[in-house]
Amino acid sequence: MKVLLFNGSSNHGGCTYRALYEVEKVLNEKDIETEIIDIGNIPIADCSGCQYCRRAGKGKCVLDDIVNECIDKCKNADGFIFGSPVYYAHPSGRLLSFMDRLFYAGGYALKYKPAAAVVSARRAGTTAALDPIIKHLTINNMPVVPSNYWPMVHGRLNSPSEVLQDEEGIQIMQVLGLNMAWMLHCFEEGEKAGYYPEKVEKIHTNFIK
Ligand SMILES: Cc1cc2nc3c(=O)[nH]c(=O)nc-3n(C[C@H](O)[C@H](O)[C@H](O)COP(=O)(O)O)c2cc1C
Repeated sequence: MKVLLFNGSSNHGGCTYRALYEVEKVLNEKDIETEIIDIGNIPIADCSGCQYCRRAGKGKCVLDDIVNECIDKCKNADGFIFGSPVYYAHPSGRLLSFMDRLFYAGGYALKYKPAAAVVSARRAGTTAALDPIIKHLTINNMPVVPSNYWPMVHGRLNSPSEVLQDEEGIQIMQVLGLNMAWMLHCFEEGEKAGYYPEKVEKIHTNFIK
């Protein structure tokens, strides 16, 4: 089993990375493979709504960048963590652009797989920043992995040593890892016992007819 952990900070090895690393360590202890993916320090284009990805047989974005690379990786992954620094009480624009395109073009590769959000802030805006990340999951049939508090850590920009001082934040990440492992193992056993999500044809009722 494999979990992909996306780092929406441009600071490789920064606070967001440190939070993800704490989750990763626990997953590895529970025999779950992991990969932390830096979505980088260059801007990621947002979704233009061109609908290229929706044309028959496409299933990928017209912009052939890290988003398409990650759609391919998601096909072979079993769970996901989306991490972001808090910017003005929301996730980084980079992560939102990445997630919009990943889900619009490649949501099929993530659905029915457990996932969680993780945010890092100096001080505030954390729960507001978690909200839009989690909304991507819950519109796409993805069970949200919980912890023993909302999944946040605290530290100044690119100061992972401060995150380590946030003892509660570190424990929240570890419990998140334990719960992700628990859910993945339960899903695996469930599948062996013949339990799969019921697939239903989506109804789209638009407001303007
Ligand atoms: C543009 C910008 C906006 C920020 N806005 C907030 C904020 O609203 N609340 C907060 O507590 N920290 C804010 N911060 C600080 C970072 O979210 C925080 O230091 C985070 O832990 C950095 O993570 P990183 O080291 O992974 O980049 C902001 C930083 C930047 C660059």
